[in-house]
Amino acid sequence: MPEPLPRAVAESLLAFWADAGVDAVLLDEPLDRIEAGKILPPKPVAPIALAPAARPGPAAAAPDVSQAIVQAQTLAAQAQDMEALAAAIAGFEGCGFRYEGASKAVCWRGALDAPVMVIGEGPGQEEDLQGLPFVGRAGKLLDRMLAAAGLTERVLITNTVFWRPPGNRTPAPHEQAVCAPFLERAIALTKPKMLLLVGGASAKSLLRKDEGILSLRGRWFEWRSSDGALELPAMPTLHPAFLLRQPGAKKRAWSDLLTLTERLDRPDRPA
Ligand code: URA
Repeated sequence: MPEPLPRAVAESLLAFWADAGVDAVLLDEPLDRIEAGKILPPKPVAPIALAPAARPGPAAAAPDVSQAIVQAQTLAAQAQDMEALAAAIAGFEGCGFRYEGASKAVCWRGALDAPVMVIGEGPGQEEDLQGLPFVGRAGKLLDRMLAAAGLTERVLITNTVFWRPPGNRTPAPHEQAVCAPFLERAIALTKPKMLLLVGGASAKSLLRKDEGILSLRGRWFEWRSSDGALELPAMPTLHPAFLLRQPGAKKRAWSDLLTLTERLDRPDRPA
C-alpha cells in the first residue's frame, strides 16, 4: 500500500487534474481502451466526481460489446421516427460511457428534414450538461461556419456516440460501433442528401478508413450503411476544436464547406 499523500499535496494534484479537464476517476490503474478492444471493465466503478456536480453512479454493469451492438440494432430497428429513436438511445444501457460519468444522452439538434447531416465525434462537457450536441466553444465556431456557408437551416447535427466519453477523450472504434446502429437508423429516418463528417474520429468510423483527417478532408467519399442498403456522399472536414487551436487551418475547413454547398446546390441532373 503506498503512503497516503499529505492533504495539501493531494488537493493540489486534484486541482491540477481538474484544470487539465479530468473530471472523474474510474479505475486505480490506467487502462488502454484501444488495446482492451472489445473488453469493457467487468465491474464498472462509480466515478468519483472532481467537478462540483456529482454524477449518478452505475445502475448495472454494461453488457459486452457484441451483446450491446445486437441490442442497439434491435432497438434502432424498432424506432419508427426520430422521437422514438431518441427515446431508445436514452433508454439504451449498452454504452459504456453511461457508467463512466456521462449524465445524459446527447442525440441531435437542427432540422429533422435537413439535407445535410453533420456528424461529430462525441459530446463534451457542455453537451453533457445541456443534452445537445455541439453547444460548447467548438460548437459555437461550427455554428458560425455553418451560418457563413448558409447552412444553418439545412443541417441536422449529431455525433458518432450519444454519451460523453470521460474527460472528452476520443471515442474508440468499438465504442463507436456500439452506437453505430442508432446513427445509421437516424440517417435512414431523416434521409439527408449528404454527410459532413467533422473530425478524424468521425470520418474514420463512418468511412471505415485509417487515414488521418488531414489527408481525408476536402474529398468526397461514399458512405455505405452496414447492410449496404443506403449510400450517401460524405465529406470529411476538420474539427472546430482543432480549428480553435490552429486558426490557420480555418481556410481549409471553409473550402470544404464551399465544396459541400456547391454539390448541395447543384441542380439534379435527369437520369
Ligand atoms: N465535439 C464533438 O465532436 N461533438 C460535440 O457534440 C461537441 C464537441
